[in-house]
Amino acid sequence: MSSVQTEERVVTTYRLWEMKQRGEKIAMLTAYDYTMARLLDASGIDIILVGDSAANVIAGHVTTLPITLDQMIYHAQSVHRGVKRAMVVADLPFGTYQGNYREALASSIRIMKEAEVDGLKLEGGQEVIDSISRVISAGIPVMGHLGLTPQSIHKFGTYSVRAREEDEARKLLHDAHLLEEAGCFGIVLEKIPARLGAQVASELKIPIIGIGAGNGVDGQVLVAHDMLGANHEFSPRFLRRYADLAAVMTDAFSHYVADVKSGDFPGDNEQY
Ligand code: KIV
Repeated sequence: MSSVQTEERVVTTYRLWEMKQRGEKIAMLTAYDYTMARLLDASGIDIILVGDSAANVIAGHVTTLPITLDQMIYHAQSVHRGVKRAMVVADLPFGTYQGNYREALASSIRIMKEAEVDGLKLEGGQEVIDSISRVISAGIPVMGHLGLTPQSIHKFGTYSVRAREEDEARKLLHDAHLLEEAGCFGIVLEKIPARLGAQVASELKIPIIGIGAGNGVDGQVLVAHDMLGANHEFSPRFLRRYADLAAVMTDAFSHYVADVKSGDFPGDNEQY
Protein backbone atom coordinates (compact mmCIF):
# COMPACT_ATOMS: atom_id res chain seq x y z
CA MET A 1 0.00 0.00 0.00
CA SER A 2 1.37 3.39 -0.86
CA SER A 3 0.82 6.53 1.14
CA VAL A 4 0.60 10.08 -0.12
CA GLN A 5 2.22 12.80 1.90
CA THR A 6 -0.32 15.59 2.37
CA GLU A 7 1.51 18.58 3.71
CA GLU A 8 -0.88 21.50 3.70
CA ARG A 9 0.09 24.99 4.63
CA VAL A 10 -2.31 26.88 6.90
CA VAL A 11 -1.75 30.15 5.04
CA THR A 12 -2.74 29.92 1.37
CA THR A 13 -3.58 32.45 -1.33
CA TYR A 14 -7.27 31.89 -0.52
CA ARG A 15 -6.69 32.49 3.20
CA LEU A 16 -4.87 35.76 2.38
CA TRP A 17 -7.82 36.87 0.26
CA GLU A 18 -10.18 36.06 3.14
CA MET A 19 -8.00 38.08 5.51
CA LYS A 20 -8.34 41.10 3.25
CA GLN A 21 -12.13 40.61 3.08
CA ARG A 22 -12.47 40.73 6.83
CA GLY A 23 -9.91 43.50 7.33
CA GLU A 24 -7.31 41.30 9.08
CA LYS A 25 -3.83 42.70 8.41
CA ILE A 26 -1.21 40.42 6.85
CA ALA A 27 2.27 40.18 8.41
CA MET A 28 5.21 39.26 6.16
CA LEU A 29 8.97 39.12 6.83
CA THR A 30 12.01 37.79 4.98
CA ALA A 31 14.06 34.68 5.75
CA TYR A 32 16.92 33.07 3.88
CA ASP A 33 17.74 30.09 6.12
CA TYR A 34 16.19 27.22 8.09
CA THR A 35 16.78 28.57 11.62
CA MET A 36 15.27 32.00 10.95
CA ALA A 37 12.35 30.43 9.04
CA ARG A 38 11.49 28.14 12.00
CA LEU A 39 11.50 31.06 14.42
CA LEU A 40 9.35 33.19 12.12
CA ASP A 41 6.87 30.38 11.53
CA ALA A 42 6.53 29.77 15.26
CA SER A 43 5.79 33.45 15.83
CA GLY A 44 2.65 33.32 13.66
CA ILE A 45 3.92 35.18 10.60
CA ASP A 46 1.56 34.87 7.59
CA ILE A 47 4.03 35.04 4.69
CA ILE A 48 7.77 34.33 4.67
CA LEU A 49 9.53 35.97 1.74
CA VAL A 50 12.74 34.42 0.50
CA GLY A 51 13.78 37.80 -0.83
CA ASP A 52 16.52 38.51 -3.31
CA SER A 53 17.59 40.96 -0.58
CA ALA A 54 19.69 37.92 0.38
CA ALA A 55 22.11 39.43 -2.15
CA ASN A 56 22.55 42.41 0.24
CA VAL A 57 21.98 40.92 3.68
CA ILE A 58 23.68 37.54 3.26
CA ALA A 59 26.18 38.08 0.46
CA GLY A 60 27.07 41.74 1.03
CA HIS A 61 26.35 42.97 -2.50
CA VAL A 62 25.34 46.61 -2.98
CA THR A 63 22.31 45.74 -5.13
CA THR A 64 20.07 42.67 -5.51
CA LEU A 65 21.16 42.12 -9.11
CA PRO A 66 24.01 39.62 -8.66
CA ILE A 67 22.06 36.83 -6.93
CA THR A 68 21.49 33.80 -9.17
CA LEU A 69 18.59 31.38 -9.56
CA ASP A 70 20.72 28.57 -8.07
CA GLN A 71 21.46 30.71 -5.01
CA MET A 72 17.77 31.63 -4.60
CA ILE A 73 16.85 27.95 -4.85
CA TYR A 74 19.37 27.11 -2.11
CA HIS A 75 17.90 29.77 0.22
CA ALA A 76 14.31 28.79 -0.61
CA GLN A 77 14.99 25.09 0.06
CA SER A 78 16.49 25.97 3.46
CA VAL A 79 13.47 28.12 4.37
CA HIS A 80 10.95 25.55 3.13
CA ARG A 81 12.40 22.89 5.46
CA GLY A 82 11.76 25.11 8.49
CA VAL A 83 8.14 26.11 7.79
CA LYS A 84 4.87 24.34 8.62
CA ARG A 85 2.29 27.13 8.81
CA ALA A 86 3.23 30.24 6.83
CA MET A 87 3.05 30.69 3.08
CA VAL A 88 6.57 30.72 1.58
CA VAL A 89 7.08 33.06 -1.38
CA ALA A 90 10.41 33.34 -3.22
CA ASP A 91 11.70 36.15 -5.42
CA LEU A 92 12.61 35.33 -9.01
CA PRO A 93 16.03 36.99 -9.33
CA PHE A 94 17.07 39.61 -11.86
CA GLY A 95 17.69 38.26 -15.35
CA THR A 96 15.61 35.09 -14.99
CA TYR A 97 12.23 36.34 -16.25
CA GLN A 98 12.51 39.73 -17.95
CA GLY A 99 13.68 38.38 -21.34
CA ASN A 100 10.54 36.53 -22.42
CA TYR A 101 7.79 34.30 -21.04
CA ARG A 102 9.62 31.07 -21.89
CA GLU A 103 12.55 32.11 -19.74
CA ALA A 104 10.12 33.17 -16.98
CA LEU A 105 8.29 29.84 -17.13
CA ALA A 106 11.51 27.81 -17.07
CA SER A 107 12.88 29.74 -14.07
CA SER A 108 9.57 29.57 -12.20
CA ILE A 109 9.07 25.86 -12.77
CA ARG A 110 12.66 25.15 -11.63
CA ILE A 111 12.32 27.00 -8.34
CA MET A 112 8.82 25.59 -7.65
CA LYS A 113 10.03 22.02 -8.27
CA GLU A 114 13.39 22.25 -6.52
CA ALA A 115 12.47 24.42 -3.52
CA GLU A 116 8.76 23.51 -3.15
CA VAL A 117 7.80 27.09 -2.28
CA ASP A 118 4.15 28.17 -2.33
CA GLY A 119 4.47 31.12 -4.69
CA LEU A 120 6.83 33.51 -6.46
CA LYS A 121 7.31 37.28 -6.50
CA LEU A 122 8.23 39.10 -9.72
CA GLU A 123 9.02 42.80 -10.00
CA GLY A 124 7.36 45.08 -12.56
CA GLY A 125 4.04 45.84 -14.27
CA GLN A 126 3.18 46.18 -17.93
CA GLU A 127 6.79 45.42 -19.04
CA VAL A 128 6.64 41.88 -17.64
CA ILE A 129 2.88 41.19 -17.77
CA ASP A 130 3.28 38.58 -20.50
CA SER A 131 5.72 36.58 -18.37
CA ILE A 132 3.55 36.94 -15.26
CA SER A 133 0.42 35.75 -17.12
CA ARG A 134 2.18 32.68 -18.47
CA VAL A 135 3.64 31.76 -15.09
CA ILE A 136 0.18 32.06 -13.51
CA SER A 137 -1.36 30.00 -16.31
CA ALA A 138 1.09 27.22 -15.37
CA GLY A 139 -0.65 27.14 -11.98
CA ILE A 140 2.00 29.06 -10.07
CA PRO A 141 0.80 31.72 -7.60
CA VAL A 142 2.47 35.06 -8.36
CA MET A 143 2.85 38.15 -6.22
CA GLY A 144 3.59 41.42 -8.02
CA HIS A 145 6.00 44.12 -6.81
CA LEU A 146 5.60 47.79 -7.82
CA GLY A 147 6.95 51.17 -6.72
CA LEU A 148 10.62 50.99 -5.82
CA THR A 149 11.66 47.78 -7.55
CA PRO A 150 15.28 47.16 -6.50
CA GLN A 151 16.09 45.03 -9.57
CA SER A 152 15.64 48.23 -11.65
CA ILE A 153 17.78 50.41 -9.40
CA HIS A 154 20.19 51.29 -12.22
CA LYS A 155 17.24 52.65 -14.24
CA PHE A 156 15.95 54.74 -11.29
CA GLY A 157 19.44 55.82 -10.18
CA THR A 158 18.22 56.41 -6.60
CA TYR A 159 16.44 54.64 -3.73
CA SER A 160 14.19 57.66 -3.09
CA VAL A 161 10.37 57.50 -2.81
CA ARG A 162 8.65 56.50 -6.09
CA ALA A 163 5.42 57.71 -7.71
CA ARG A 164 5.28 61.14 -6.08
CA GLU A 165 4.60 62.63 -9.53
CA GLU A 166 1.16 62.31 -11.10
CA ASP A 167 2.38 60.40 -14.21
CA GLU A 168 4.24 57.76 -12.27
CA ALA A 169 1.37 57.37 -9.77
CA ARG A 170 -1.08 56.86 -12.67
CA LYS A 171 1.19 54.24 -14.22
CA LEU A 172 1.55 52.43 -10.89
CA LEU A 173 -2.24 52.31 -10.45
CA HIS A 174 -2.65 51.02 -14.00
CA ASP A 175 0.05 48.36 -13.43
CA ALA A 176 -1.61 47.25 -10.19
CA HIS A 177 -4.90 46.69 -12.03
CA LEU A 178 -3.07 44.80 -14.79
CA LEU A 179 -1.44 42.50 -12.21
CA GLU A 180 -4.80 41.81 -10.57
CA GLU A 181 -6.41 41.07 -13.95
CA ALA A 182 -3.52 38.73 -14.82
CA GLY A 183 -4.34 36.74 -11.67
CA CYS A 184 -1.68 37.80 -9.14
CA PHE A 185 -2.69 36.80 -5.61
CA GLY A 186 -1.16 39.92 -4.07
CA ILE A 187 1.16 42.86 -4.69
CA VAL A 188 4.06 44.34 -2.72
CA LEU A 189 4.21 48.15 -2.94
CA GLU A 190 7.60 49.56 -1.98
CA LYS A 191 8.40 53.12 -0.93
CA ILE A 192 5.50 55.12 -2.34
CA PRO A 193 3.28 57.84 -0.81
CA ALA A 194 0.85 56.46 1.80
CA ARG A 195 -2.14 58.00 0.00
CA LEU A 196 -1.32 56.09 -3.20
CA GLY A 197 -0.81 52.85 -1.23
CA ALA A 198 -4.26 53.25 0.33
CA GLN A 199 -5.83 54.01 -3.05
CA VAL A 200 -4.37 50.83 -4.61
CA ALA A 201 -5.55 48.75 -1.62
CA SER A 202 -9.08 50.14 -1.82
CA GLU A 203 -9.41 49.74 -5.61
CA LEU A 204 -8.06 46.16 -5.75
CA LYS A 205 -9.60 43.00 -4.31
CA ILE A 206 -6.25 41.20 -3.84
CA PRO A 207 -4.11 41.89 -0.75
CA ILE A 208 -1.64 44.78 -1.01
CA ILE A 209 1.44 44.45 1.20
CA GLY A 210 3.46 47.59 1.84
CA ILE A 211 7.06 48.35 2.68
CA GLY A 212 7.17 52.08 3.10
CA ALA A 213 3.68 52.39 1.56
CA GLY A 214 1.81 53.62 4.63
CA ASN A 215 -0.81 52.12 6.91
CA GLY A 216 -3.73 52.09 4.48
CA VAL A 217 -2.62 48.84 2.80
CA ASP A 218 -3.61 45.28 3.73
CA GLY A 219 -0.35 44.17 5.32
CA GLN A 220 3.30 45.00 5.91
CA VAL A 221 6.65 43.45 4.99
CA LEU A 222 10.13 44.21 6.29
CA VAL A 223 13.53 42.60 5.84
CA ALA A 224 13.92 40.58 9.07
CA HIS A 225 17.59 41.50 9.54
CA ASP A 226 16.68 45.20 9.32
CA MET A 227 13.81 45.06 11.85
CA LEU A 228 16.03 43.02 14.18
CA GLY A 229 18.65 45.78 14.09
CA ALA A 230 21.37 43.52 12.72
CA ASN A 231 22.47 46.31 10.46
CA HIS A 232 22.65 49.91 11.71
CA GLU A 233 23.75 51.46 8.41
CA PHE A 234 20.31 51.08 6.80
CA SER A 235 17.78 53.47 8.40
CA PRO A 236 14.95 54.44 6.05
CA ARG A 237 11.96 56.20 7.63
CA PHE A 238 9.70 53.16 7.12
CA LEU A 239 11.90 50.86 9.21
CA ARG A 240 10.83 50.16 12.80
CA ARG A 241 13.53 48.35 14.82
CA TYR A 242 12.24 45.68 17.23
CA ALA A 243 15.64 44.64 18.61
CA ASP A 244 19.28 45.64 18.61
CA LEU A 245 20.71 42.38 17.36
CA ALA A 246 23.97 44.04 16.33
CA ALA A 247 24.63 45.00 19.97
CA VAL A 248 23.48 41.62 21.36
CA MET A 249 25.63 39.65 18.91
CA THR A 250 28.72 41.85 19.18
CA ASP A 251 28.49 41.60 22.96
CA ALA A 252 28.22 37.79 22.84
CA PHE A 253 31.08 37.46 20.34
CA SER A 254 33.41 39.70 22.33
CA HIS A 255 32.60 37.82 25.55
CA TYR A 256 33.46 34.56 23.79
CA VAL A 257 36.74 35.98 22.47
CA ALA A 258 37.64 37.19 25.98
CA ASP A 259 36.73 33.82 27.54
CA VAL A 260 38.84 31.89 25.01
CA LYS A 261 41.81 34.25 25.39
CA SER A 262 41.68 34.10 29.20
CA GLY A 263 41.35 30.30 29.23
CA ASP A 264 37.98 30.55 31.03
CA PHE A 265 36.25 28.62 28.21
CA PRO A 266 35.78 25.67 28.19
CA GLY A 267 35.24 25.14 31.92
CA ASP A 268 35.37 21.82 33.76
CA ASN A 269 31.77 20.92 32.94
CA GLU A 270 32.15 21.90 29.27
CA GLN A 271 34.64 19.15 28.41
CA TYR A 272 34.79 15.32 28.29
O1 KIV B 1 13.88 41.08 -1.49
C1 KIV B 1 13.18 41.54 -0.58
O2 KIV B 1 13.50 41.41 0.62
C2 KIV B 1 11.95 42.25 -0.94
C3 KIV B 1 11.26 43.00 0.14
C4 KIV B 1 11.98 44.26 0.41
C5 KIV B 1 9.83 43.22 -0.17
O3 KIV B 1 11.56 42.24 -2.06
